[in-house]
Amino acid sequence: MRTIAISNNKGGVGKTTSTVNIAAGLQILGKKVLVIDVDHQAQTTYHFGIAPKDLQFSIFEVIKGEINYKDILIQKSGVDILPAKPDLKDLDFLPFPAKEFLLKEALDKIKEYDYILMDCPPSLGILTLNALTFAKEIFIPLQLQFLPFHGMYNLFDGVQMVKQRLNKDLDISGIIATMYSANKSINKEVMEETETRLPGKLFKTIIRENVYLQEAPSWGQTIFEYKSDSNGAVDYLNLCKEIISQEK
Ligand SMILES: Nc1ncnc2c1ncn2[C@@H]1O[C@H](COP(=O)(O)OP(=O)(O)OP(=O)(O)O)[C@@H](O)[C@H]1O
Ligand SMILES: [Mg+2]
Repeated sequence: MRTIAISNNKGGVGKTTSTVNIAAGLQILGKKVLVIDVDHQAQTTYHFGIAPKDLQFSIFEVIKGEINYKDILIQKSGVDILPAKPDLKDLDFLPFPAKEFLLKEALDKIKEYDYILMDCPPSLGILTLNALTFAKEIFIPLQLQFLPFHGMYNLFDGVQMVKQRLNKDLDISGIIATMYSANKSINKEVMEETETRLPGKLFKTIIRENVYLQEAPSWGQTIFEYKSDSNGAVDYLNLCKEIISQEK
């Protein structure tokens, strides 16, 4: 079982889009996948067509140890989902010691999946720290522009700190280039710079800019349900094949 946090402290880089569509792609390729929404924005939850306001319980009660994860499990698009609600941000105010370990403690016994994917908020706050403490791997979605590229080094420092203090097993196992446009020379330049400075870290599959990836969430669908012949679907399926090939 691979436990992967999809994380970047920068906002709007494609974390949620990647979490949902990698989960769906892996499922299409025959894998059993659990998605955990670890973001109080609950965007992964919305993307799968689940309205947070209709939920009585969510991952927050599981993290607090009040209920079992099976009590909130929802199946959509062939994927099991542990949804979030905006109250997840209150984790910050809980008077529990060692709060970074709560998610791991609540879910450590799960064994029945090939992949667990966690969507993180755009910060290195307590929610992301919970995901990085439970995860074995991180995928970093990267927008191929100058500032996001340099911002990624702050994330590397954060990951190093997590490795030292919380989770020595954690590793960055791939950077996902997102929203690539052949018309933008900066995209190509940053891609080359990433390959030079961080050899072997960038997935070979590049996720191209694709409007259907923006539209699919409003229908509560993955890209494979919404527009299965789009560049977005082709790219995410190829990325999933590459993710699986990391295991050989
Ligand atoms: N390959 C793509 N092509 C076009 N639009 C994209 C692509 N990937 C993501 N988007 C769009 O960019 C926006 C940000 O993407 P997304 O919500 O996945 O980022 P995020 O990193 O999860 O953001 P946040 O930090 O707020 O959680 C969304 O509107 C999404 O639909
Ligand atoms: Mg998001």
